[in-house]
Amino acid sequence: MVNKFDHRAHRQLHSPERLRLQPAGPALKLFGLRSDHVFIDLGCGSGYFLLPAAARVQEAWGLDISPEMLRLVRKAAADAGLRNVRTMRNCEHGIPGATGSVDRALVVDVLHEMTAPIRLLGEIRRVLTADGQLLLIDWNWRPSPHGPPQAERIGRETARRMLVRAGFRKIKAYNLYRHHYVLLAGKTALAELPPATSPSRPPSRPAGRGTPGRRRRPGRRAPARPRA
Ligand SMILES: C[S@@+](CC[C@H](N)C(=O)[O-])C[C@H]1O[C@@H](n2cnc3c(N)ncnc32)[C@H](O)[C@@H]1O
Repeated sequence: MVNKFDHRAHRQLHSPERLRLQPAGPALKLFGLRSDHVFIDLGCGSGYFLLPAAARVQEAWGLDISPEMLRLVRKAAADAGLRNVRTMRNCEHGIPGATGSVDRALVVDVLHEMTAPIRLLGEIRRVLTADGQLLLIDWNWRPSPHGPPQAERIGRETARRMLVRAGFRKIKAYNLYRHHYVLLAGKTALAELPPATSPSRPPSRPAGRGTPGRRRRPGRRAPARPRA
């Protein structure tokens, strides 16, 4: 049984302590976000990472299992004048979104709350484009003054193994934060990417209305069909 973050404690997610220990900027910089990117933040909470990311991308999707959190994000986005933020309620076993339609996916402090983590990570991999990347950040296993109880945490090496089992390649660890690990994972290893001259195909599944990546970006090639 996993414990979910209580939405009534949402202010904790924007505490001065967090701003000091886990500023969003360094992680987002690592991610190479671009103005033509479709970005998803799975388990976005009240938008601590989503809103600064939205300022750098074309479409920013906040997905969360909690409708209360999504309401908070929409209000914060409106207050900040961010018009490219969309929200969608997520479930435990899947991600809304067409295969190969998302450029960057972020998952911060959510892995340890997932009921079926490998399955959800596999779903993230599915929606990523061939050169898409996932940034996974979670609490180190060793004790810290804040954060979930140690018994609920998923340490860095376990998280790395989960990413491998979900099909991710080229997983790199970064030391950005005192109490958190940061893993950057590619959908495909660079050597596996199709050559630039190969014909590109449309995604194997059309995006539904109101799902990440629904709008085709002008001048952008269609994402290559993902490998099985
Ligand atoms: C500790 S909060 C972190 C929020 C945000 N990522 C941040 O860094 O501020 C965990 C969030 O994950 C959400 N969550 C838990 N399980 C989820 C799932 N299966 N799918 C989507 N969101 C989930 C919770 O509702 C909560 O908003």
